[in-house]
Amino acid sequence: MADPIRIAWSHAGDEGAAVGSPDTTRWESLSFPRPWPDRPWIFGVMVASANGVVAWRRRGPGDDPVRAILGGDDRPERIADRRLMRYLRTIGDAGIGAQTVREQPGLVLTPQEPGDEPAPDLYAFRIARGLSYHPRNVVYSLYGRLPLEHPIFTTPGLDAVILTTPAGAALLRGHARSSASPALIVEPLLEREGLVRAHRRLFAEHGVRYLACEGGQTVLNALHEAGLLDEVFLTVTDIVIDTSAHDGVLTCFDFRAERAELVAEGKISRDSGYAFQRWRFRKPGGDASPRRDS
Ligand SMILES: NC(=O)c1ccc[n+]([C@@H]2O[C@H](COP(=O)([O-])OP(=O)(O)OC[C@H]3O[C@@H](n4cnc5c(N)ncnc54)[C@H](OP(=O)(O)O)[C@@H]3O)[C@@H](O)[C@H]2O)c1
Repeated sequence: MADPIRIAWSHAGDEGAAVGSPDTTRWESLSFPRPWPDRPWIFGVMVASANGVVAWRRRGPGDDPVRAILGGDDRPERIADRRLMRYLRTIGDAGIGAQTVREQPGLVLTPQEPGDEPAPDLYAFRIARGLSYHPRNVVYSLYGRLPLEHPIFTTPGLDAVILTTPAGAALLRGHARSSASPALIVEPLLEREGLVRAHRRLFAEHGVRYLACEGGQTVLNALHEAGLLDEVFLTVTDIVIDTSAHDGVLTCFDFRAERAELVAEGKISRDSGYAFQRWRFRKPGGDASPRRDS
C-alpha cells in the first residue's frame, strides 16, 4: 500500500535527468539539470509561512521561528517537508549560513539528523550514485565566528568546507584545533566575483556538482545577487506569522517580482494547507557565468 504521506508533484518545466528514488512509496523521483561546466547547480531549500516569513531575530533558545512557521512537529505535512529536505540532501552536497549554524546547535546536513528516524535507504541511494556517505557541509561565513565544536565540524566521516574571507580565515586558523580542521576556501566573498570564484573552486577542488543551500535568507540573497542561485524548493505552510510581534523579520524572495518560474508544485492531499513549490531563477544550459550587467 502506498505511504499516505507522499508529495504528489505536478510538473510544468522542471525537466532534466531523473535522479531516481530510494523508495517510490515515499519519494517521487525528481529531475535535475546537469551542473554548469564550471560550477555546481545550486538550489535553495526553504520553508516560509503563508505570509512569506522565514525567520526573525530570536529572543532566546525557546524562540524558534522555523518551528513556529512549520506549525507543529507531527503533522503529516511536516513529515512530508522533513522527508523532502532529507531527500534533497541525497542529490549532492549541502550548504548553510553561519548564522543558522550559530542558532541551530544540533543541525547536521545529512539524510539522518540526530533524532530522525533511521534512513539507511537514503544513504544507500547516495552511495549507489557514487556519492560520499554524508554530503559535504559547506558553511558560509564572512568573518569566521564559527563554533568549531558544532556537530557540522565534529561528526565523524562528514567533511565540512568553510567559504570565508581572508579576515575569516585568519580567525579560523587561530582557533582551529586538531579535532576540527575544516577545509577553507578563502575569497573576497562580499565581491560578486569572489563569491562566484568560491563556487568554481568548490566544483574544481572538491568535486561539488549539486549544492542544496538550506539558507538562511541572508546567504540565499547573496547567492541570488551574484547570479548563482539556480532555483529554490520552497515549502509554504498554512501558518500566518504576526510580523509586528517579532524583530528582525526576514521574508523569502518575491519570486514573481524576481521573474522566477514556478516549474513544479506539490501537495500531500487536496485539502492540505501546505504547498511544496519549485521556483527556477536560471534556465539550465544557459550562461552560468554571471556578468556585471546581468
Ligand atoms: N525558514 C527556513 O527555511 C530557514 C532556513 C535556514 C535558516 N533559518 C533561520 O534563519 C535564521 C538565520 O538566517 P540568517 O538569514 O539570519 O543568516 P544565515 O543566512 O544563516 O547566515 C548569515 C551569515 O552568512 C555569512 N554571509 C553573509 N553574506 C555572505 C556572503 N556574501 N558570503 C559568504 N558568507 C556570507 C555571514 O556569516 P558571519 O557572520 O559568520 O560572517 C552572515 O552572518 C535562523 O533563525 C535560522 O534558524 C530558516
